[in-house]
Amino acid sequence: MSERGRFITFEGPDGGGKSTQLEHLCRRLEHAGVVVLPTREPGGTPVGRELRAMLLVPDRAPLAPEAEALLMCADRAQHVAEVIRPALSAGMVVLCDRYTESTLAYQGFGGGVDLASLQAVAEFATGGLTPDLTVLIDVDVRLGLERRRKAFRAGEGEFNRIDRRRLDYHQRVRNGFLSLALREPERFLVVDGALAPEVISDQLWERVAALVGVRAEIPRLL
Ligand code: TMP
Repeated sequence: MSERGRFITFEGPDGGGKSTQLEHLCRRLEHAGVVVLPTREPGGTPVGRELRAMLLVPDRAPLAPEAEALLMCADRAQHVAEVIRPALSAGMVVLCDRYTESTLAYQGFGGGVDLASLQAVAEFATGGLTPDLTVLIDVDVRLGLERRRKAFRAGEGEFNRIDRRRLDYHQRVRNGFLSLALREPERFLVVDGALAPEVISDQLWERVAALVGVRAEIPRLL
């Protein structure tokens, strides 16, 4: 359990709609009078934004898989120290777009970096800070990547260096997320990213309202 506030992370393959859901949840919690801090990885701090460019901008110098993993964890260490822990200590509800499970799924299951080593580095980076709830928005990888590509062509969002990897990489990432969720069924809420956004939003709300201790009747703001 996280100090005084509540720590909720959003995970899943690209194009599942997690950033949209995070935004909606944020607004609904605010409507219920909760002090919320939305943030993301990589890039939730000034240093993190520099790391994000090194990691994700397509024409940057190539990174060895282990270097990519360590930079993701460096971003997280800074983010936990500078943003997440202070917010939790102040009693806020922190909604974080990606966290440790992304490193395990992308760099571990996807990129083949040794999982036990990754887990040890992630533990070191976060000082063992574990989310109270991890929402996994699962989506078929073809569907997810197609959504990302379409949005990018329409001038929204990015189609970054990791999005551009092969389909089998993304398939391993998706399976990785699902197997991580099976290991900790209490902490994970797995939702189907192919469902209508309103349906997903309601599934999340039921669980989050109970966790945060607010009335479930607050209306959906979609
Ligand atoms: P997003 O902000 O659109 O989710 O993009 C972040 C990208 O970075 C996404 O493709 C997943 C990837 N990523 C990792 O590979 N490992 C990590 O630890 C994190 C946080 C993100």
